[in-house]
Amino acid sequence: MKKILVTGAHGQLGSCLRREFDREPQLEVVYTDSDTLDITDREAVERFLGDHRFDIVINCAAYTAVDKAETDEILCSAINTVAVGNLGEAAVRTGAKVIHISTDYVFSGQGFRPYEENDEPYPQGIYGRTKLEGEGLLTSFCQNAVIIRTAWLYSEFGKNFVKTMLALAETKPEISVVADQIGSPTYAGDLAKAIMHIIKGKEWHPGIYHYTNEGVASWYDFAKAIFEISGRNVPVNPIPTSVYPTPATRPLYSVLSKAKIKKTFDVEIPYWRDSLRKCLSALV
Ligand SMILES: NC(=O)c1ccc[n+]([C@@H]2O[C@H](COP(=O)([O-])OP(=O)(O)OC[C@H]3O[C@@H](n4cnc5c(N)ncnc54)[C@H](OP(=O)(O)O)[C@@H]3O)[C@@H](O)[C@H]2O)c1
Repeated sequence: MKKILVTGAHGQLGSCLRREFDREPQLEVVYTDSDTLDITDREAVERFLGDHRFDIVINCAAYTAVDKAETDEILCSAINTVAVGNLGEAAVRTGAKVIHISTDYVFSGQGFRPYEENDEPYPQGIYGRTKLEGEGLLTSFCQNAVIIRTAWLYSEFGKNFVKTMLALAETKPEISVVADQIGSPTYAGDLAKAIMHIIKGKEWHPGIYHYTNEGVASWYDFAKAIFEISGRNVPVNPIPTSVYPTPATRPLYSVLSKAKIKKTFDVEIPYWRDSLRKCLSALV
């Protein structure tokens, strides 16, 4: 029986993974979060992995407050970089493989075609830089890691754009949404299924991979789709990024190429609107 650790288990992806693993009684899964295993605590991580002897560690824990990170670099770096190294080091010592989640924010967002895994990273803010450094530190300890960069995650759990839009629809007569940032809305439930597929696969192929849902959209398109599918009649105004300044620079172009993960692991990836429909049917 495979023994698996999921860190950051109360987060969006962690919660979706738990839902997937609940259907797989042949896997023994231990869930931790900041209250039960603070991954910035190197000794605690080493002890925990030493005691449990996991086959696979899935790191869903992260500092994800992109704007707050701009004034909270020390904590952001501790969680997104140093702690990822802690997990990698302890995993190698105890013979565990690692699946780690990273982000489109490692890129500049100035691209004009889907980013491939070996494109030059050029993060624009603290969050992206600490995530990139986490990738580097992890691979320096652990050559056996699978790193999955994703983007624009949403789910039934935690805080995300879909839930924010649904909440705004209750109080605002109209909503303005940025229309010049392009990416791929990604249902964390689909990413959890892809991770499950990789775990159940016969072969392990370490490396960096990109995973998002299929298709592209602006945040404006995404908001329109949320209201259309959920049957809310809220006018949405398209605005440029310049009208909605944020402390952290957002990538204008965040589309990731999924060719490598599809070819290597034979992963099937749903179209973003189909997955949005699925998530909304559970939410509203
Ligand atoms: N959300 C997105 O749009 C997005 C986009 C691209 C990539 N990603 C990446 O995808 C992954 C999953 O994201 P998500 O949206 O599921 O994140 P999330 O909902 O913010 O969950 C992150 C989890 O990490 C936990 N955590 C924070 N610090 C910790 C620590 N020191 N020790 C242990 N656990 C800690 C948090 O616990 P507390 O709540 O107790 O702090 C939380 O449960 C992350 O690696 C993220 O960088 C996310």
